[in-house]
Amino acid sequence: MGIRTISTRPFSDQKPGTSGLRKKVPVFQQPHYLENFVQSIFDSIAAPQGATLVLGGDGRYYNRAAIQVILKMAAANGFGKVLVGRDGILSTPAASCVIRKYQTFGGIILSASHNPGGPDGDFGIKFNSSNGGPATETITEAIFARSKAIGAYRMLDAGDVAIDKVGVSTLGGMQVQVFDPVSDYAELMESLFDFAAIRSLLAGGFKIKFDAMHAVNGPYAREILERRLGAPAGSVSNAVPLPDFGGGHPDPNLTYAHDLVEVLYGDNAPDFGAASDGDGDRNMILGKKFFVTPSDSLAVIAANATLAPGYQQGLAGIARSMPTSAAADRVAQALNIPCFETPTGWKFFGNLMDAGKVTLCGEESFGTGSAHVREKDGLWAVLFWLNILAVRKQSVESIVREHWAKYGRNVYSRYDYEGLPTAAAQGVMSHLQGNFGQMTGAKFGKYTVKFCDDFSYTDPVDGSVSKGQGVRIIFTDGSRIIFRLSGTGTEGATLRLYLEAYEADASRHHLDAQVALADLIRIALQISELKQRTGREQPTVIT
Ligand code: G1P
Ligand code: ZN
Repeated sequence: MGIRTISTRPFSDQKPGTSGLRKKVPVFQQPHYLENFVQSIFDSIAAPQGATLVLGGDGRYYNRAAIQVILKMAAANGFGKVLVGRDGILSTPAASCVIRKYQTFGGIILSASHNPGGPDGDFGIKFNSSNGGPATETITEAIFARSKAIGAYRMLDAGDVAIDKVGVSTLGGMQVQVFDPVSDYAELMESLFDFAAIRSLLAGGFKIKFDAMHAVNGPYAREILERRLGAPAGSVSNAVPLPDFGGGHPDPNLTYAHDLVEVLYGDNAPDFGAASDGDGDRNMILGKKFFVTPSDSLAVIAANATLAPGYQQGLAGIARSMPTSAAADRVAQALNIPCFETPTGWKFFGNLMDAGKVTLCGEESFGTGSAHVREKDGLWAVLFWLNILAVRKQSVESIVREHWAKYGRNVYSRYDYEGLPTAAAQGVMSHLQGNFGQMTGAKFGKYTVKFCDDFSYTDPVDGSVSKGQGVRIIFTDGSRIIFRLSGTGTEGATLRLYLEAYEADASRHHLDAQVALADLIRIALQISELKQRTGREQPTVIT
């Protein structure tokens, strides 16, 4: 078995986005495309000879083929050992857990998260560092720079490695250890939450429904919710990961997880519903006929954190991404702990967690997590809610309503305009950016613009600056309108519009978010000229 050095030419489009490199499967299938990117990672991370890597993905189409390529390239690039999830399966939070537990040099995660899969769907790849979190921008920029200059990659001349059974084999001078992707993660969850209390909640007839959306969390949810916590068989649906996610869009929101939403809003609805995404890091929480916004979910978890054994000591601080509502800020204030506002994307939370500045983090995009790993964690959020429900013995809805009564309600909604022509989407952004001066101080009905800007973040730990992170229009009463271009799409541009209005008056807390936000929506469309500039009357997704 020799090591071959294969010459190649750079591709110009291997710039990692919000979460790694994501492209359509046929793009990754071009000769040398995946190999170039993998070599660019290896050339940029300076792993010592003999280092250990973790490798796995969400099971989508091309996962297995990519794993074989990466194993042979790792062997040719001096790695000593690769830990591979059985069948190539590893949820994103489980990858983070394993990287940390076994103190490996890092890991490669194959996923395009919530984007659809299959031969014409999306594929993705990212590198996570030894803290278990997504590589920092410094590293992803180095990878991109390397990808534009690469001239060759190294690959071991060898046959494929069997990854369908737990065990150890060798590939050249490298060990390949296939491990059970669920057990380390399940053990970590058991160490954080009161499994006995949740078990008795479920034994008492509290009904749950978890939709794994034919994505990676199926085996994790079955093991933890059904086997370890005793939920009746069938409580987890769509539990077998499929290469095309059964043709679905594995994104746990009100649009794409509509089957689950129908169950929770139907007759004889279960008491609790949840779903997670392609790679298991997102979550949606539902009560009986009740949707918990991700921003509220973060705030409720923060306010009730000490009910879970792993968080009994209290929280060091909370961090949220800029477009996420300020509901968590109010809890932080009440707890007298710091609250950080970061750009969109989990990678910005890593430094804060590593420095011990925050315990909980969250994003409005159905992402919640804590310092137990360095990724957001879908099943963790579900277990946190179940732990809270088991202790408080109230419904999801009454817990959220009590929360609003105490802290006020940050009414929230996000509008996504997907697949826009890039020029039109950028036109909306530059139009807004060109009008900051004129908008400041402007009055729209009861709203007055306090200030507007392009959000920029200086990392309090390493001082790095991230500019151009979204347009903020902030009103004097704290209400906000935010515009941002997505960094994860693979087709055209996706424009996101985030709307938030603070409502202290409890007599208005029952209002539907779309009703309560109607004025802000009108203002947002007016000042952005979104309809005129994109030709879109309606958003693709409203959450
Ligand atoms: C989206 C979400 C963001 C999340 C990312 C990865 O990124 O908005 O919060 O971290 O997916 O799951 P975007 O497409 O907006 O760049
Ligand atoms: Zn995801």
